Amino acid sequence: MSARTYLLAGVPLAALLASSLYSYGSGVDPYTVGVANLTKARPSCGNCHSGTQGANSLKVKLAPTARALTPGQSLSVTLSATGGVADAQLRGGFTCDVSSGAFTAGTNSRLTSRSDAITHSRNSGHNRSWTYGYTASTNPGLIEMYATLLTSNGSGTSGDIWGFAAFNSAAVQGTAVRLYVNAPGVVPVGSACAGSYENVPVFGAKQAPQRGNAAFGFELFSVPSSAGMALLVNGPSNFTLDLAVVGITGGCNLLVDPANVIVFNGTTTAGDPERASATGSFPMPIPNSPGLAGVQFQCQVAILDVNSGRPTPITMTNALRVTVQ
Ligand code: HEC
Repeated sequence: MSARTYLLAGVPLAALLASSLYSYGSGVDPYTVGVANLTKARPSCGNCHSGTQGANSLKVKLAPTARALTPGQSLSVTLSATGGVADAQLRGGFTCDVSSGAFTAGTNSRLTSRSDAITHSRNSGHNRSWTYGYTASTNPGLIEMYATLLTSNGSGTSGDIWGFAAFNSAAVQGTAVRLYVNAPGVVPVGSACAGSYENVPVFGAKQAPQRGNAAFGFELFSVPSSAGMALLVNGPSNFTLDLAVVGITGGCNLLVDPANVIVFNGTTTAGDPERASATGSFPMPIPNSPGLAGVQFQCQVAILDVNSGRPTPITMTNALRVTVQ
């Protein structure tokens, strides 16, 4: 064999190695790079990329178009960054994963070896914002989504700045964006407004609202630590009132008719305020009485949120319309 043949034969092997092991310019698969918790905790992208996490005011935002869902609902997710490495071409990449359900690729993104994690598909000459699809599973309950984003300078792994999608992109751990699949018979109405540390609460029910279901009740996630809260209950309606008029500013809507509303008090658990790891619950056992079949009611939670920065420090959740079966 001539030297020339050896050379040619060597090319495909090198190309294969490059694409399977090191081609992070076209995406990072959390299931194959060998770094645990790539989207949730350090060292994450910083395991291989140098540069200070969260420097140059890097701010990473993960924004789904809906959070309180029906089984199997599809929506879109936008992950974007401001700050980070100054680069005329706005080069960057990301990994986002979710506890259940499946992503669908959008422009400049691709699925990893599993559909519950998605990453960038190219690194040059595009921006630092990606929009992709997501379809929830049909199983009622909580969904947690996390993302990590890297702003790059195009020089391989040096001088890049990465961060978690969170109020503080330089935090040790990422913050979950929480979505919730409601049981059949529980239909989400409207949406919550963002609370303290930009966390958006989600209010849902995973048990079927069946007569005789002693386990029926509501759950809340991404709420402030140990906060007081009130469950507002009334009949079904299309009532909407922007509460800015009473100092509950920033897109908070009352979605339950206030006339003759019934109010139940509740309290959330303790949790990390910035990462909104506290939860809340309102048990509401449904009596087994035949007269309840088909009865509908609508409810929503008002949360006392002292760090929300609002003149009246309250954050409103989405509402739910329940039909007893
Ligand atoms: C296991 C090591 C490793 C980890 C972990 C890692 N990368 Fe990389 N990454 C590399 C290497 C090596 C390169 C340079 C080779 C290349 O461009 O393919 C690179 C390049 C890139 C590039 C192209 C940058 C450029 O300047 O050309 C992007 C974008 C990128 N990585 C994003 C990420 C993101 C986002 C994460 C975290 C979710 C991450 N990487 C985690 C090893 C890693």
